[in-house]
Amino acid sequence: MGCGSSGFSEEQLDILAAMTPVPAVPADSTNAVADDPNAAVLGRKLFFSTALSGDGQFSCASCHDPAQDFTDGLQLSEAAGQTGRHAPTVINAAYSRWQFWDGRCDSQWCQALGPIESPVEMAGTRLGVARAVYTDATLRAEYEALFGALTDFTDSRFPERARPAEDPTDPDALAWAQLSAADQADVNGVFANVGKAIAAYERLLVTGEGPLDAYIQGLLAEDESYRDALSPEAELGLELFVGKGLCHFCHSGPMLSNGEFHNVALGPRDWLPEGDNGRFDGIRAVRETPFNALGAFSDDTEGEAAQRLTFLALNIDAEGQFKTPGLRRVANTAPYMHGGHLDDLASVVEFYNLQEEEPEFGHLDETLAPLELSEEEAAALVVFMEEALDAELVDPSVATAP
Ligand code: HEC
Ligand code: HEC
Repeated sequence: MGCGSSGFSEEQLDILAAMTPVPAVPADSTNAVADDPNAAVLGRKLFFSTALSGDGQFSCASCHDPAQDFTDGLQLSEAAGQTGRHAPTVINAAYSRWQFWDGRCDSQWCQALGPIESPVEMAGTRLGVARAVYTDATLRAEYEALFGALTDFTDSRFPERARPAEDPTDPDALAWAQLSAADQADVNGVFANVGKAIAAYERLLVTGEGPLDAYIQGLLAEDESYRDALSPEAELGLELFVGKGLCHFCHSGPMLSNGEFHNVALGPRDWLPEGDNGRFDGIRAVRETPFNALGAFSDDTEGEAAQRLTFLALNIDAEGQFKTPGLRRVANTAPYMHGGHLDDLASVVEFYNLQEEEPEFGHLDETLAPLELSEEEAAALVVFMEEALDAELVDPSVATAP
């Protein structure tokens, strides 16, 4: 048995000890400006700027709204069109080695470039972004102080929009093909730097500690008042989380995520597109993107991220897998799952409890099975997530438009 009167086993105490304290955001050596405060200042402006979008209407904050915990509250996100997935929060995303539900980027700077050019998100282009930065005196001055002088992207050889696209008849792709290789490389470099500045800002959107940390730290220190940190119902929920619920198997560590991909077997929904194979497609995509840790725009092609990518293998088990989300502040970000499948935390617990859906791809993770929780136990897990996983941002002042 564990310490004092607590009902936790030695093994469970180890699992709890690994959940706290919250460490600093892991370094990103692929981004030379990741921890540069000036890059974060620029990145914050870019995050909230509609000038990066094709028609000047949308910004990152359109779907990652600070007033909604950097989500949009929708099942499927919408801006220039409708996406096929639910928007996760940006808070604490800097702790993830892989970005997106399918991990198709291995850094936040790679991630940030996707929505800008997605026709259903911001519908912009990399050349449009380079022009937007060049023509805004403040953005240009801040950019040049970090990354050096910009080319004059208003020169007549540059059209307003251009980006590579799979469909070679796409007007943006035709415009891209007209550019010289040197101009393409130049634009790509600016685009990557814009992603790096945004990533520097996102690294500030992190939580500190909350009731869970106070409880565990008190418990481990054998401080008798530790139980005051949680209500009895939340305490029961924690016991289930690391016990009968087996949640800790994937929701482990300080973010309550192992950072890996699993198939929890969510079935179809009438609002979801068919054919979402999750991590299986994400592995191919992260290897192919020129903006990965091994690519020409990475500031460290030999470090940990590059090693991880080198050894990443395409595996049939990746079918239908999605990234385990972190759970700090999870009560603020309904609906849940990669397609907004479940409306609230009670539905999430019921989903795991019954475990009766059939996935479109792959098969249920081997650790999952119906839990046979009583109503009281299911309710306690919900209270645990609402109460214990609440945590303030380390610096709430950055969580607004500049
Ligand atoms: C149309 C709404 C929309 C816009 C605009 C948008 N996002 Fe997202 N964001 C999403 C959706 C949906 C996902 C999940 C997509 C997926 O996994 O395939 C996502 C995923 C992310 C993630 C990954 C988080 C994680 O845990 O893996 C980050 C970080 C992020 N977005 C930041 C940004 C930034 C930065 C911008 C602006 C450059 C932006 N988003 C613009 C909807 C949007
Ligand atoms: C086998 C690994 C695994 C186990 C065990 C597991 N989860 Fe998850 N959890 C995931 C994955 C993966 C997702 C995302 C699934 C998706 O969208 O396809 C997820 C999603 C969630 C979400 C939604 C978060 C969000 O932001 O959308 C919550 C809440 C959650 N899990 C709570 C729990 C609880 C409570 C338990 C225990 C009863 C549990 N999980 C057990 C892997 C797991």
